[in-house]
Amino acid sequence: MTRRPTAILISGRGSNMEALLQAAAAPDYPARIVAVLANRPGAPGLARAAAFGIPAETIDHRGFADRTGFEAALEARLLAHGADLVCLAGFMRLLTAAFVARWRDRLINIHPSLLPAFPGLDTHARALAAGVRFAGCSVHLVRAEMDSGPILGQAAVPVLPEDDAATLGARVLAAEHRLYPRALALYAAGRARAEGERIVFAPDIAFESGALLSPAAE
Ligand code: GRF
Repeated sequence: MTRRPTAILISGRGSNMEALLQAAAAPDYPARIVAVLANRPGAPGLARAAAFGIPAETIDHRGFADRTGFEAALEARLLAHGADLVCLAGFMRLLTAAFVARWRDRLINIHPSLLPAFPGLDTHARALAAGVRFAGCSVHLVRAEMDSGPILGQAAVPVLPEDDAATLGARVLAAEHRLYPRALALYAAGRARAEGERIVFAPDIAFESGALLSPAAE
């Protein structure tokens, strides 16, 4: 089995990065993490990556005159590490359409909502304000428009009456940590692949067919 060389881009804490690193520590995981790159010096995830023995580097976006210059430096490091796939994990810089086009179908993101609902920031407060009964997270291929692109996987969690943004966010984050490694594995192994703007799945992949009710059935 060839393990697809994959880089992870972070800006902060890196808990999703850590979930990916843990999964990729298994010898039969179809992606091999070759580097973690952060755009913010001192991003806590860098130390966590180094503890896994993964090359962890900072490319400070403030050192560049514009996005294109920053992305050229980023891309040079991605190529130097031999990355073929790139996972965004709490990476808080918008990428230009040109960068996204060069990495088309090789750039993956996780977003803390059930897309296409609630793209952008403050998803949990917005979900609570909208009164939805389910929230969740999405792993998707990146397209030029923010938080859009073919959806590889989603996890739904119920919104409970006593939730605030913090409790809902924690429930979603736990789901993110389960979903992202699974979605990357399917994609890296070629068992989920892009056909235009939709994902086609291998026939042996398991899907849930029951309903999760919120409120629950009596
Ligand atoms: C996650 O909620 C992710 O979905 C969003 O940013 C957050 C990053 O958290 N894009 P972490 O750095 O992975 O802990």
